[in-house]
Amino acid sequence: MRILVTAGPTREHFDTVRFISNPSSGKMGYAIAAEAFRRGHDTVLVSGPVELPHTEGVEVIRVVSSQDMFEACVSAFDDCHAAVMTAAVCDYRPATRLDHKLKKEARPLSLSLEPTKDILAHLGTIKGDRVLIGFAMEDYDHHANAEAKLRRKCCDAVVLNGLGNVGSDWAEVEILRADTDWSPPVSGSKTQIADVVVNLVEALAGRKG
Ligand code: CTP
Repeated sequence: MRILVTAGPTREHFDTVRFISNPSSGKMGYAIAAEAFRRGHDTVLVSGPVELPHTEGVEVIRVVSSQDMFEACVSAFDDCHAAVMTAAVCDYRPATRLDHKLKKEARPLSLSLEPTKDILAHLGTIKGDRVLIGFAMEDYDHHANAEAKLRRKCCDAVVLNGLGNVGSDWAEVEILRADTDWSPPVSGSKTQIADVVVNLVEALAGRKG
Protein backbone atom coordinates (compact mmCIF):
# COMPACT_ATOMS: atom_id res chain seq x y z
CA MET A 1 0.00 0.00 0.00
CA ARG A 2 1.13 3.60 -0.50
CA ILE A 3 0.35 5.70 2.58
CA LEU A 4 0.42 9.47 3.03
CA VAL A 5 1.13 10.74 6.55
CA THR A 6 1.14 14.37 7.67
CA ALA A 7 3.04 15.52 10.74
CA GLY A 8 4.08 18.54 12.75
CA PRO A 9 2.84 22.11 12.88
CA THR A 10 2.57 24.67 10.13
CA ARG A 11 3.93 28.20 10.31
CA GLU A 12 1.94 31.16 9.07
CA HIS A 13 4.21 34.15 8.58
CA PHE A 14 3.17 37.78 8.85
CA ASP A 15 6.59 39.17 8.02
CA THR A 16 9.96 37.76 7.00
CA VAL A 17 10.84 36.51 10.50
CA ARG A 18 7.65 36.15 12.57
CA PHE A 19 4.88 33.61 12.38
CA ILE A 20 1.89 32.01 14.12
CA SER A 21 2.30 28.32 14.93
CA ASN A 22 1.73 25.72 17.65
CA PRO A 23 3.88 23.34 19.72
CA SER A 24 3.24 20.13 17.74
CA SER A 25 6.43 18.02 17.81
CA GLY A 26 5.58 15.77 14.86
CA LYS A 27 6.46 12.68 16.91
CA MET A 28 3.16 10.87 16.31
CA GLY A 29 3.24 11.29 12.54
CA TYR A 30 6.91 10.35 12.30
CA ALA A 31 6.27 7.21 14.39
CA ILE A 32 3.35 6.23 12.13
CA ALA A 33 5.40 6.79 8.97
CA ALA A 34 8.28 4.72 10.41
CA GLU A 35 5.94 1.88 11.36
CA ALA A 36 4.19 1.91 7.97
CA PHE A 37 7.58 1.71 6.24
CA ARG A 38 8.76 -1.04 8.61
CA ARG A 39 5.76 -3.13 7.51
CA GLY A 40 6.69 -2.71 3.86
CA HIS A 41 4.33 0.10 2.87
CA ASP A 42 5.51 2.78 0.49
CA THR A 43 5.28 5.83 2.76
CA VAL A 44 5.27 9.54 2.02
CA LEU A 45 5.49 11.93 4.95
CA VAL A 46 4.48 15.58 4.49
CA SER A 47 6.11 17.31 7.42
CA GLY A 48 5.88 20.79 8.86
CA PRO A 49 8.94 22.26 10.60
CA VAL A 50 10.02 19.83 13.34
CA GLU A 51 13.26 18.85 15.03
CA LEU A 52 13.21 15.14 14.37
CA PRO A 53 15.76 13.00 12.55
CA HIS A 54 15.06 11.76 9.04
CA THR A 55 12.99 8.57 9.03
CA GLU A 56 14.97 5.95 7.11
CA GLY A 57 13.20 4.74 3.98
CA VAL A 58 10.34 7.22 4.19
CA GLU A 59 9.94 9.80 1.42
CA VAL A 60 9.76 13.14 3.26
CA ILE A 61 8.31 16.32 1.78
CA ARG A 62 9.14 19.30 3.99
CA VAL A 63 6.72 22.20 4.06
CA VAL A 64 6.27 25.35 6.12
CA SER A 65 2.80 26.85 5.71
CA SER A 66 -0.67 25.29 5.61
CA GLN A 67 -0.89 26.28 1.94
CA ASP A 68 2.39 24.41 1.21
CA MET A 69 1.06 21.40 3.12
CA PHE A 70 -2.25 21.55 1.25
CA GLU A 71 -0.50 21.53 -2.14
CA ALA A 72 1.93 18.75 -1.17
CA CYS A 73 -0.88 16.56 0.20
CA VAL A 74 -3.24 17.03 -2.76
CA SER A 75 -0.42 16.09 -5.11
CA ALA A 76 0.84 13.12 -3.02
CA PHE A 77 -2.67 11.76 -2.33
CA ASP A 78 -3.15 11.08 -6.06
CA ASP A 79 -1.26 7.78 -5.98
CA CYS A 80 -1.87 6.85 -2.33
CA HIS A 81 -4.26 4.23 -0.99
CA ALA A 82 -4.57 5.76 2.48
CA ALA A 83 -3.82 8.94 4.40
CA VAL A 84 -3.22 9.47 8.11
CA MET A 85 -3.46 13.14 8.99
CA THR A 86 -1.69 13.88 12.29
CA ALA A 87 -0.47 17.39 11.44
CA ALA A 88 -1.47 20.32 13.63
CA VAL A 89 -2.34 22.57 10.71
CA CYS A 90 -2.91 26.22 11.65
CA ASP A 91 -6.58 27.08 11.12
CA TYR A 92 -5.82 30.78 10.56
CA ARG A 93 -3.06 32.74 8.89
CA PRO A 94 -2.27 36.43 8.75
CA ALA A 95 -4.27 38.05 5.96
CA THR A 96 -1.13 39.79 4.72
CA ARG A 97 2.54 38.83 4.75
CA LEU A 98 5.07 41.64 4.63
CA ASP A 99 8.16 41.13 2.47
CA HIS A 100 10.32 42.78 5.15
CA LYS A 101 10.69 42.70 8.92
CA LEU A 102 7.96 44.68 10.64
CA LYS A 103 9.47 47.51 12.68
CA LYS A 104 8.13 47.92 16.19
CA GLU A 105 6.21 51.00 17.24
CA ALA A 106 5.12 52.03 20.72
CA ARG A 107 1.46 51.22 20.17
CA PRO A 108 -0.73 48.12 20.05
CA LEU A 109 -0.70 46.04 16.89
CA SER A 110 -3.64 44.01 15.59
CA LEU A 111 -3.23 41.15 13.18
CA SER A 112 -6.02 40.34 10.80
CA LEU A 113 -6.35 36.56 10.33
CA GLU A 114 -8.05 34.58 7.60
CA PRO A 115 -8.99 30.88 7.60
CA THR A 116 -6.63 28.39 5.98
CA LYS A 117 -7.76 25.45 3.84
CA ASP A 118 -8.81 22.30 5.69
CA ILE A 119 -6.59 19.68 4.07
CA LEU A 120 -8.29 16.64 5.60
CA ALA A 121 -11.76 17.93 4.69
CA HIS A 122 -10.58 18.49 1.13
CA LEU A 123 -9.13 14.97 0.86
CA GLY A 124 -12.48 13.73 2.23
CA THR A 125 -14.25 15.20 -0.80
CA ILE A 126 -11.95 13.41 -3.29
CA LYS A 127 -11.06 10.21 -1.44
CA GLY A 128 -13.21 7.74 -3.37
CA ASP A 129 -12.47 4.34 -1.83
CA ARG A 130 -9.19 5.41 -0.23
CA VAL A 131 -8.77 5.12 3.55
CA LEU A 132 -8.75 8.44 5.42
CA ILE A 133 -7.86 8.75 9.08
CA GLY A 134 -8.02 12.03 10.96
CA PHE A 135 -6.70 13.01 14.37
CA ALA A 136 -8.87 15.16 16.63
CA MET A 137 -7.30 17.38 19.27
CA GLU A 138 -10.00 18.13 21.83
CA ASP A 139 -10.08 19.61 25.30
CA TYR A 140 -13.85 19.47 25.96
CA ASP A 141 -16.83 17.41 24.71
CA HIS A 142 -14.15 15.07 23.40
CA HIS A 143 -16.29 12.33 21.87
CA ALA A 144 -18.92 14.62 20.39
CA ASN A 145 -16.36 16.98 18.85
CA ALA A 146 -14.20 14.17 17.45
CA GLU A 147 -17.21 12.36 16.01
CA ALA A 148 -18.41 15.59 14.38
CA LYS A 149 -14.98 15.89 12.68
CA LEU A 150 -15.13 12.29 11.51
CA ARG A 151 -18.48 12.92 9.79
CA ARG A 152 -17.74 16.44 8.52
CA LYS A 153 -14.40 15.47 6.97
CA CYS A 154 -15.62 12.09 5.58
CA CYS A 155 -13.03 10.06 7.53
CA ASP A 156 -13.09 6.29 7.93
CA ALA A 157 -11.79 6.70 11.47
CA VAL A 158 -10.75 9.42 13.86
CA VAL A 159 -8.09 9.21 16.57
CA LEU A 160 -8.98 11.31 19.61
CA ASN A 161 -5.89 13.01 20.92
CA GLY A 162 -5.64 14.96 24.21
CA LEU A 163 -3.60 18.08 24.93
CA GLY A 164 -1.40 16.00 27.28
CA ASN A 165 -0.03 14.10 24.27
CA VAL A 166 1.48 17.21 22.66
CA GLY A 167 5.28 17.02 22.57
CA SER A 168 5.35 13.86 24.68
CA ASP A 169 6.88 10.50 23.74
CA TRP A 170 3.71 8.92 25.16
CA ALA A 171 0.07 9.24 24.24
CA GLU A 172 -3.37 8.11 25.26
CA VAL A 173 -5.88 7.92 22.41
CA GLU A 174 -9.33 6.59 21.64
CA ILE A 175 -10.39 5.53 18.16
CA LEU A 176 -13.77 5.85 16.49
CA ARG A 177 -14.31 4.03 13.23
CA ALA A 178 -17.14 5.31 11.05
CA ASP A 179 -18.63 1.81 11.05
CA THR A 180 -18.32 0.93 14.75
CA ASP A 181 -18.31 2.47 18.23
CA TRP A 182 -15.47 4.01 20.27
CA SER A 183 -12.55 1.76 21.19
CA PRO A 184 -11.46 1.68 24.83
CA PRO A 185 -8.60 4.15 25.54
CA VAL A 186 -5.17 2.93 24.40
CA SER A 187 -2.03 4.33 25.98
CA GLY A 188 1.64 3.74 25.38
CA SER A 189 4.67 5.16 23.66
CA LYS A 190 4.02 6.90 20.36
CA THR A 191 5.74 3.91 18.72
CA GLN A 192 3.12 1.64 20.32
CA ILE A 193 0.28 3.96 19.28
CA ALA A 194 1.73 4.02 15.75
CA ASP A 195 1.45 0.23 15.69
CA VAL A 196 -2.27 0.51 16.59
CA VAL A 197 -2.87 3.20 13.95
CA VAL A 198 -1.14 1.22 11.16
CA ASN A 199 -3.19 -1.85 12.19
CA LEU A 200 -6.25 0.36 11.74
CA VAL A 201 -5.14 1.52 8.27
CA GLU A 202 -4.56 -2.08 7.21
CA ALA A 203 -7.88 -3.26 8.65
CA LEU A 204 -9.82 -0.48 6.92
CA ALA A 205 -7.99 -1.06 3.62
CA GLY A 206 -8.68 -4.81 3.87
CA ARG A 207 -12.36 -4.17 4.46
CA LYS A 208 -12.54 -1.96 1.37
CA GLY A 209 -10.47 -4.24 -0.83
N1 CTP B 1 -6.64 19.35 9.59
C1 CTP B 1 -6.24 19.60 8.28
N2 CTP B 1 -6.22 20.89 7.82
C2 CTP B 1 -6.58 21.90 8.61
C3 CTP B 1 -6.98 21.66 9.96
C4 CTP B 1 -6.99 20.36 10.41
O1 CTP B 1 -5.91 18.66 7.55
N3 CTP B 1 -6.55 23.16 8.13
C5 CTP B 1 -6.70 17.95 10.05
C6 CTP B 1 -5.73 17.59 11.16
O2 CTP B 1 -4.50 17.12 10.62
C7 CTP B 1 -6.50 16.49 11.89
C8 CTP B 1 -7.96 16.91 11.74
O3 CTP B 1 -8.01 17.76 10.60
O4 CTP B 1 -6.35 15.24 11.27
C9 CTP B 1 -8.56 17.60 12.93
O5 CTP B 1 -7.70 18.66 13.33
P1 CTP B 1 -8.01 19.46 14.67
O6 CTP B 1 -6.94 20.47 14.87
O7 CTP B 1 -8.32 18.50 15.79
O8 CTP B 1 -9.39 20.17 14.38
P2 CTP B 1 -9.84 21.33 13.42
O9 CTP B 1 -10.48 20.70 12.23
O10 CTP B 1 -8.71 22.27 13.17
O11 CTP B 1 -10.99 22.03 14.25
P3 CTP B 1 -10.93 22.80 15.69
O12 CTP B 1 -9.60 23.52 15.72
O13 CTP B 1 -12.09 23.72 15.60
O14 CTP B 1 -11.08 21.75 16.75
